[in-house]
This record gives sequence, C-alpha cells and structure tokens, in this order.
Amino acid sequence: MNYFRYRNGLLHAEDVPVDLLAGEYGTPLYVYSARTLERHFNAYEKAFERFPHIICYAVKANSNSAILRLLGSLGSGADIVSGGELYRALRAGISPRKIVYAGVGKRDDEIEYALKKGILMFNIESAEEMVRIDEIAGTLGKKAPIALRINPDIDPETHPYISTGLRKHKFGIPIEEAVEYYRRARGLKNTRIIGVHKHIGSQITTITPFVDALERVLVLIDRLREEGIEIRYLDIGGGLGIRYSDESPPHPGQLARKISPLLRGRDLTVVLEPGRSIVGNAGIMVSRVLYLKEGEERTFVIADGGMNDLMRPTLYDAYHEIVPVRKRRRKKMTTDIVGPICESGDFLARGRVIESLSRGDLIAVLSAGAYGFSMASNYNSRPRAAEVMVRGDEHYLIRKREEYRDLVRGEEIPEFLR
Ligand code: LLP
Repeated sequence: MNYFRYRNGLLHAEDVPVDLLAGEYGTPLYVYSARTLERHFNAYEKAFERFPHIICYAVKANSNSAILRLLGSLGSGADIVSGGELYRALRAGISPRKIVYAGVGKRDDEIEYALKKGILMFNIESAEEMVRIDEIAGTLGKKAPIALRINPDIDPETHPYISTGLRKHKFGIPIEEAVEYYRRARGLKNTRIIGVHKHIGSQITTITPFVDALERVLVLIDRLREEGIEIRYLDIGGGLGIRYSDESPPHPGQLARKISPLLRGRDLTVVLEPGRSIVGNAGIMVSRVLYLKEGEERTFVIADGGMNDLMRPTLYDAYHEIVPVRKRRRKKMTTDIVGPICESGDFLARGRVIESLSRGDLIAVLSAGAYGFSMASNYNSRPRAAEVMVRGDEHYLIRKREEYRDLVRGEEIPEFLR
C-alpha cells in the first residue's frame, strides 16, 4: 500500500493534499509520509522477529533528525559512515549500542568519538584501519568492538556506481584473505572481534546475490570458529531495492524466508542496514513548473527543482516517476523535465511521456525519500529545499528552507580585502 495517492484527481500525502503543502511551505519541497516509514520499518521487524536481530537504518539514505527520531522510536539502530552521522543518530536518541560504523576512510577524531560513545561495532575495511582503531582504543583505555567487512566478490547486478561487493571495489576485505585478517585482529590488544559484516550494493532487486554472499560468509564464520574465533554478530548490510518504475524487488519477508534456513541453529544476532527500502518510497519531491520551452528538437518543462535538490537522475541516470499533483485529463506530451541549474546534465527526466503541463503546475517526483535530500547541494547558490513530514491529516516542517544567509554561513572575507 502506498500513502501517496490521488483523491478526486489530487495527489495526497496520507490525508493531506500535496498542493496545500506546496502552498504553505513553498517549492521545491520534500514530503515524507510517517506511516510509510513506520510500515517499512515494521516490515523488517516482523520479517526477522524469529531471529535475534538489530535493524540499523542506513543514515546516509536520509539523515533528517525527525526521520531518525521516528525510526529510533520504533526500535531502529543506525548504520553510520561518519562522525556527522554518529552525531545525528545520537542526537535523535538512538542508542550507541545499536550503532554500527562502516566506511573506508574513518578519521582519528571520528574513531575517537565513536569509541567514547560506546558504539556496537566498527565495520573494518582495511588492515591499516584495524591497526589505527586498536591504537586509538589503547590510548583511551578501551577495547574496540569490531567486525571485518568482507568483500564476497558477488555481483549484485545493480548500477555500477552503487555496487560494492566485487573484488575491484574499494570496499571490505577480500574473502580469501579474511581468515588471515581475523588472525591479525585477534593479536591486537585493544580490539575485540565480535562480528562479520558484508554489504554488496544497493538497489538490489533479486534475492540470489544476497543468498550467495551470505553462504560465502557463513563458510567463513565456520572456519573462524575452528580457529577459536567466535562470531556473535552477522551484519548482512542493506541493499534491498525498491520500485521506481517496473522493478519488483523482494520484500524483507522474502529475504528472511530465504536466509532463515541458513541461519537456523547458529547463535548469531543478525544486523541489517536497510536505507532505501525504508525511506525511498516514503518521500516525494514536489516542484513547480516555471516555464515551458519549445526547443529545436523537444519541449522542455523547466521546474524549480533540479540536480542540486535531487541528484540521482543526473548522477546515475536514475528513473524517477514524475506525476502531476493535479490530474487534469489533458493529452500527453513527451518532454525533458529539467531544473534551473546551469548544466546540461540537470534533468529530472528525459524523453518522458506525461500529461501536458503548463506554467504554475505542480509536479511530484516519486520515490525520492532515499538519497534525495541527503545528497542535495547548494550548487548555483540555491538554498536547499524544505522538508515536511505528514502523519494522517497533520503536517510538520522538519527542516526549514534555507535562506540566502545560510549560503554564506561560515564564510569570511580576509583582512586584506576588507
Ligand atoms: N550499508 C552500507 C555499508 C552501505 O554502504 C549502504 C549504502 C547501505 C547499508 C544502505 O544501502 P540501501 O539499503 O540504501 O541500499 N546514492 C546511491 C546509493 C548509494 C548507497 C551507498 N551505500 C543512490 O542514490 O542510488
């Protein structure tokens, strides 16, 4: 079920008409549905209820404090990749005991911050990182809880920019060398091995790569046990895809059913790191049509939201469905829907067939909740959009639109130019 639906030809977010939100908060505007977030999170909870598990929402997908707060209140932990994400997660009330920290480039200050806060575990991506974390833990008089991120060399069959689990990628430790790495980790004085981590990519729409990767990792866990290295946490990463157009990605329940026979009888706590599948279809980006422009070859619809607001179409050539907020039963047009940014790559859709639009119309870019606002920038000195959360017939501003003065915050004119 989708909480963004038409009623009498008008798109609603839960029980709130989207044009009302655009009128009240302006455009471009991100709108999130609290009930959809709840439903998606609970689908994971329910799917994995038979196993000891922790769902660590991937903060990078959407790091808005209200979203973190909502998910945290449902019991979510956090998968983080920076000190900034740790700060956000803690501030939103997420317990450090449910925070896992991945990423190939953890800085000293970030490691120290995470150790001091007592996170559940560091997902280690290299030998040097492992040693550095051990050293810092030593100076703090702490033991660093770690998992090694294993690169299982599995092709997740997704976009090359968002696949991570192949030998050629910068992520993780090659599975063939994993035992050796674990032996080294065991020799570190201030390190405590507690887990194994894998994450093979994002927007994965078939179960097979998950299962294949898991099988490889379980073989590793058995080998480690033979060496006397006990693994308590099995972090299987995120990556379940969502429907942007005609994909039919597996439901968390299907994933759980497929992997449960593999996990049965093993004393493992499963950690999951879903991002997109929680928040992707819980958000839309609303934009207003500024102009229609007849080009030589095609018509352009110029919207007030562009690649700085939603970078996915530009960066990955990603497809996002775009619909008129009010259906007017006009005939269709084929158009490029572009933003105001001074780049030819600034488009939301190309060659799209959509009900004819005119100046002033509102459009909604669907499935924009994940990697939408969190990847937004101020390029072309555009203040970042406002974000709103809807729950039933209530709506709440959860991030106010930036103002011009936000654009220059922190900038200084050197003495010689004053
Ligand atoms: N865990 C780790 C270690 C990750 O690197 C990621 C995503 C996740 C979990 C969450 O994956 P998800 O469940 O969201 O698929 N900007 C790209 C996606 C990049 C994903 C990066 N890592 C996009 O817009 O498609």
